[in-house]
Amino acid sequence: MSPEAPLLSLRDVSLTRADGGAVLRDISFDMAPGEVLAVVGESGSGKSQLLLSLLGLAMPGATLAGSILFRGQQLVGAGEPALRALRGNRIAMLFQDPKTALNPCLTIRAQLQEVLRDRRGLDRAALNSRLVEALRAVDMPDPEQMLRQYPHELSGGMRQRVMLAMAVLVEPDLLLADEPTTALDVTTQAKVLDLMLSLRQRMGMGILLVTHDLGVVARMAGRALVLRHGRIVEQGDTATLLTSPASDYGAELLGAVQRLEQGVKQGLKYGNGAA
Ligand SMILES: Nc1ncnc2c1ncn2[C@@H]1O[C@H](COP(=O)(O)OP(=O)(O)OP(=O)(O)O)[C@@H](O)[C@H]1O
Ligand SMILES: [Mg+2]
Repeated sequence: MSPEAPLLSLRDVSLTRADGGAVLRDISFDMAPGEVLAVVGESGSGKSQLLLSLLGLAMPGATLAGSILFRGQQLVGAGEPALRALRGNRIAMLFQDPKTALNPCLTIRAQLQEVLRDRRGLDRAALNSRLVEALRAVDMPDPEQMLRQYPHELSGGMRQRVMLAMAVLVEPDLLLADEPTTALDVTTQAKVLDLMLSLRQRMGMGILLVTHDLGVVARMAGRALVLRHGRIVEQGDTATLLTSPASDYGAELLGAVQRLEQGVKQGLKYGNGAA
């Protein structure tokens, strides 16, 4: 792959349900290595299905068509073994509720070891220090203690950091993040977002980030896509999108967010927002 080649390149991607209903239509975009690209759009517009399609995990019975090149490798029609080799390895995932991604019966140590596929030649001490290092990289205060714990013993923010520690271990080229901070309080949200950016800097991974929060878009992404009814209605640099959206829908979305923010501020001002 030449350095200029896109990390991810989609052309005319569609996802069609068995009953003929279109979930994604004519999706085309490129992502450069190390780029942060945001995906926004109303509920049901196809954001999650877009991310899942990249991993061959879209809804059962639906047909994926078009072309998805990941580092030059065609993912549409790729077999399960090829896709499984990419998942959690070259492509890491971060979802809204990391509880579903972590095995409740295994300690954090067991789950982190699991993702280190190539641990041949690592003795116990070396393996341990890799895990501790990964947890330090995501600002975990007491890694040794954390390794002995089970997912239910951790807060949502800590579980999300465990997922990021997995990414540190495998150094993926692409991180797919679907509303990764929506379930977290504002302070924890900011920390996790900053961590994502620092890991991106450190490892050069691209981030495809689904969010409904335009504040998060502004903070994280250089470019954004707006989805509506499974189509891209607008794509461009974040600054333009957030100040002068080209499509009516982009403007509507921005207006809706501004009205919401206004409402929250008023609620706070009159003391009825914190009740
Ligand atoms: N497992 C499924 N089986 C059938 N239809 C599904 C399934 N998952 C999603 N859909 C449908 O696919 C479309 C796109 O859903 P998707 O989950 O991608 O939306 P979204 O943009 O992620 O929404 P949200 O913001 O609420 O997460 C919707 O019409 C949804 O009802
Ligand atoms: Mg979704």
